[in-house]
Amino acid sequence: MTQRTFIIIKPDAVSAGNVGDILARYEREGLVIEALSLRTIDDDFADRHYHEHVGREYYAPLRDFMTSGPLVAAVVSGDDAVARVRVLHGATDPAKAAPGTIRAQFATSTRHNAVHASDSQGSADAEIALWFPGL
Ligand code: CDP
Ligand code: MG
Repeated sequence: MTQRTFIIIKPDAVSAGNVGDILARYEREGLVIEALSLRTIDDDFADRHYHEHVGREYYAPLRDFMTSGPLVAAVVSGDDAVARVRVLHGATDPAKAAPGTIRAQFATSTRHNAVHASDSQGSADAEIALWFPGL
């Protein structure tokens, strides 16, 4: 079933110059880029995106990181896109990410882990509405 999902190329990967390589990974998988935006977010927007994490012990440094510089937000679509992108990204902790995944290649720590992806169709719909209203 064709799905849309939401991804972020996080500020670590943008500042390291890995945007092109990471976007190429989605396209190589046959996923289609439906929307793409370079932007810098503020604390309030980070809280809305990561509302499930606000208050966790790692949240303050995570918010500082996510607001530290430009990131790339995107919507990609394709067959079973939500699950396929999560597999392509690999585990949150790059030390546990499978070889060949984006995080295995580009992440440097659990926080600075290069990419975000929606974890369900419900969160994808909510995240697309937050980042790309009307899409
Ligand atoms: O991004 P993912 O869905 O794989 O992981 P999450 O558990 O939803 O956590 C969201 C983000 O918070 C992660 O991608 C990390 O950047 C960050 N995080 C962290 O800095 N320290 C942790 N112990 C857990 C997550
Ligand atoms: Mg998550």
